[in-house]
Amino acid sequence: MENPRKAKVLVVGGGGRCHAIVDALSRSSKVGKIYCAPGNAGIAQQAECVPIKDTQVEELKDFALAEGIDLTVVGPEVSLAAGIVDVFQASGLRIFGPSKDAAIIESSKDFAKQLMAKYNVPTAAFRTFEDYGQALEYVRAGSFPVVLKYDGLAAGKGVVIAEDLSQAQETLKDMLLDSKFGKGRVVVEEFLTGPEFSFMCFVDGEKVWPMTVSQDHKRAFEGDKGPNTGGMGAYSPVPLITDEDVEYSIENIMKPVAAGMVAEGRPFKGVLYGGLMKTPTGVKVIEFNCRFGDPETEVVLPRLESDIYDIFSAVTDGTLMPEIKWSSRVTLGFVLASNGYPGSYEKGHAITGLDEALALGDIRIYHMGTAVKDGGYVTAGGRVLMVVGSGDDLKSAQAHALKAVGCIRCDNLFYRRDIGWRVL
Ligand code: AMP
Ligand code: GLY
Repeated sequence: MENPRKAKVLVVGGGGRCHAIVDALSRSSKVGKIYCAPGNAGIAQQAECVPIKDTQVEELKDFALAEGIDLTVVGPEVSLAAGIVDVFQASGLRIFGPSKDAAIIESSKDFAKQLMAKYNVPTAAFRTFEDYGQALEYVRAGSFPVVLKYDGLAAGKGVVIAEDLSQAQETLKDMLLDSKFGKGRVVVEEFLTGPEFSFMCFVDGEKVWPMTVSQDHKRAFEGDKGPNTGGMGAYSPVPLITDEDVEYSIENIMKPVAAGMVAEGRPFKGVLYGGLMKTPTGVKVIEFNCRFGDPETEVVLPRLESDIYDIFSAVTDGTLMPEIKWSSRVTLGFVLASNGYPGSYEKGHAITGLDEALALGDIRIYHMGTAVKDGGYVTAGGRVLMVVGSGDDLKSAQAHALKAVGCIRCDNLFYRRDIGWRVL
């Protein structure tokens, strides 16, 4: 039941990440009613879904004003890059997330690289080019593989690891001559090696509060083969990453970047996501995101034992941060994706067995892309569901999540059985 003394919260977005945020908010003693725009069929079990898209910033603001929303939490980068935080704040609304000026740390790879260079944050050597001929000349003189990054939001498709000159040439042509992703520049980067991990921190100006570490699996198929995707599974914590690695990452990466953003006149508030790599010469930055990671959030937030509304409020209002506690339980999640993803895929295939999976206990099912048809769930996206299991260790969390996946029936889904392979 709605309790008028408790907060009304709006979550912007509609994937698995937002489902996990809604789920965490629903565990808060401070939160009464949760809205989600646009949400999805699974989120609708825990929040009232509102049919406004995540890019309709003015409409979202009007909704928040009309409903008397106490706090808005933003999931996707498109809303942040569109300036949702600035628009809400101009109307006196409380909103958790970075301003448009600060969100540039994700939307411009060149900005992020220049910032890291200026504040001595460890990252791959790089140069940025606008001119095709100059870029090609630079690449020709260097070694392979080489990493080519389009300088702008390209829905995860803007990074190419070119194995040889001909692939590099073709990619530079796509990005600089044919403007495949739009008019933009290219960051040419040194190729680094080592395990990657995701390090999300709550940030308010220079202040940084780390979350527990997680690891994503970006390739579509087992053994890290196939095309890059939005992420096919994740787990938390990551045994390969030691307490020393975390300490190093806070002191040498997250804090200097947070302070750098303040010094640049772009103070960051919200979740700063470091995509980091443990290379033979130390932890280095692969990328920054200006928001919760997807699917990392789905394995990190279930381990949060503190009240997330208090954390969001402390960052938003600049008030005292409560102690942030994490469960020692391990979480591991499998993404069930439509056959064909990340390429084209069909929608509308019936999904059953979710209740059986949940009945196992210690299972969370986050909806990434589902809809309801004739009273049952159907597939409605590339990534469809994330099934997260908990356990005392990674092996038991994996086995448990796998058992839950086995309960789910749908004739058009695939998943990677090897989530956690780097450790198991
Ligand atoms: P990004 O969108 O920047 O996270 O890049 C996508 C993926 O490309 C990363 O998760 C890495 O696996 C890979 N990648 C990006 N930059 C580098 C690099 N400098 N060296 C090696 N791999 C990289
Ligand atoms: N899992 C990577 C991301 O959220 O960008």
